[in-house]
Amino acid sequence: MPSVTSLSDAVEAQLSSALTATLPETVGDPLLRRSDRADFQANGILALAKKEKANPRELATRVVSRVTTGDVIKDIEVSGPGFLNITLTDRAIIANLAERYADETNRLGVPLVPHPGTTVIDYAQPNVAKEMHVGHLRSAVIGDALVQMLEFTGENVVRRHHIGDWGTQFGMLIQYLDEHPHELDHKDAEASGEEAMSNLNRLYKAARQLFDSDEEFKTRARRRVVDLQAGDPHTLATWQRFVDESKIYFFSVFEKLDLEVRDADIVGESGYNEMLAETCRLLEESGVAVRSEGALCVFFDDIKGPDGNPVPLIVQKSDGGFGYAATDLSAIRDRVFRLKASTLLYVVDARQALHFRMVFETARRAGWLGDDVTAQQLAFGTVLGKDGKPFKTREGETVRLVDLLDEAIERASAVVREKAKDLSEAEIAERGAQVGIGAVKYADLSTSASRDYKFDLDQMVSLHGDTSVYLQYAYARIRSMLRKAGDVRPAAHPELELHAAERALGLHVDAFAATVTEAAAEYSPHRLAAYLYELASLFTTFYDKCPVIKPEPPRDIAENRLFLSDLTARTLHTGMTLLGIRTPERL
Ligand code: ARG
Repeated sequence: MPSVTSLSDAVEAQLSSALTATLPETVGDPLLRRSDRADFQANGILALAKKEKANPRELATRVVSRVTTGDVIKDIEVSGPGFLNITLTDRAIIANLAERYADETNRLGVPLVPHPGTTVIDYAQPNVAKEMHVGHLRSAVIGDALVQMLEFTGENVVRRHHIGDWGTQFGMLIQYLDEHPHELDHKDAEASGEEAMSNLNRLYKAARQLFDSDEEFKTRARRRVVDLQAGDPHTLATWQRFVDESKIYFFSVFEKLDLEVRDADIVGESGYNEMLAETCRLLEESGVAVRSEGALCVFFDDIKGPDGNPVPLIVQKSDGGFGYAATDLSAIRDRVFRLKASTLLYVVDARQALHFRMVFETARRAGWLGDDVTAQQLAFGTVLGKDGKPFKTREGETVRLVDLLDEAIERASAVVREKAKDLSEAEIAERGAQVGIGAVKYADLSTSASRDYKFDLDQMVSLHGDTSVYLQYAYARIRSMLRKAGDVRPAAHPELELHAAERALGLHVDAFAATVTEAAAEYSPHRLAAYLYELASLFTTFYDKCPVIKPEPPRDIAENRLFLSDLTARTLHTGMTLLGIRTPERL
């Protein structure tokens, strides 16, 4: 299914053929960019002239003479050392957008990748029997945006929630629950996420206290670790109760975050148990890992501790236990060989960067990651408090994610209530959640993932500036305008002369395709966020300068403006959906 080409593609095609006609033997990329000087600027002539040992301005002039102006290109001129400034006709802008508007695939010009691969995205990976904190927010939000963006471009995406559901800490919990079997019971048939988590918290504290104070309990608890690893059915059944209870809680948080997480995609650490021994055997047999003081280790020339001694990756501890690394190495084998991944993406805190560096290098040496497979950690920065320090409560404790989300929803509801006088309480609650959660997601996605950012609710729910609320308002305003327009319907009129604000908006709408393609390929949701913010800003200017309903312009102008507005709304909607943010119809 061919999607509608962007204007930039059409111009690029014309320039490329002019380049080839000028220099038949060489290939050159015109390097087209949006520009303040003209609609587009082409910077590629410079590199080509250098390669050909030609004078760039002269070469540029020859290229220009081969470009036909008229239908699409209104004006093309040489500028600076050999750039080309290109201005399009008003007709081309509207005609091209009209084609996009009519396109039933509703892809807004975004092409499908020519050779889709399979990308496994490891994200939203909380830990069983533990509260989710603000650190888990970023992985979930960024990961989900990447899933949506990559799927939209046609990539096959496999989601993996690598939850922490295995380890020695379960011995104590299992033993305690066996001795107090009603500790996880629920008041009602249907447990809430809150209740599940408070059960788990209470049980964890009690088990910990007993473990620290009662030697006999400690011995019984340790035995359960061995039973668990040996696969004893009764021990596994009790362990499963913790996993199930935690999932009730996880799903409640994901639901609050308006994220779709599917049970089948939750493949936690325990999912790789069967592979661990084999992973270690393969590493040892191939010599990639060696025994060192009883532990199975992989060494790296360039990874040393502060004392200058090499820091190894430990795949099996001296007591025979397998750790985090053995699990991740097994997961790589599973994802590459069984799921046939061409790309492995890990949306994980930057503090785990060394772990992933060592794991990827080990997997390469073992031959599990070949040249045809890319493995990358999308290492994200820390969420900071308003004071610029890692986010903590006033008591110095880590902040519960649920509390933060509830506060965001509450603040957003207040904003919604104040703005819209005619909404019912139910509507305020619904919009409040959409605005509040949107605000939290947007604040996270609008800074590049690798950077830290400050969690500042006042700023996040502000109607002014680079916030999701601003985008949501722009969308709602367009929708209300379309409702008010009555029998004037959106229709493209390529014959009209455009206002500067209409041109700027139209050209930016056109750039959606290239933006989504690049943002997906570079795993940069923040580029899409920046695009959408500019779209809303350009719309605001257009709305100011180009009346649609009052004062009433001639019919064709009104129709054309409604058409531009409607296409802007669709673009906002699609873009925000890719970021996981809702666009309420009214605000
Ligand atoms: N559960 C881990 C944590 O909370 C993150 C897991 C990351 N994924 C992985 N494949 N290691 O820190």
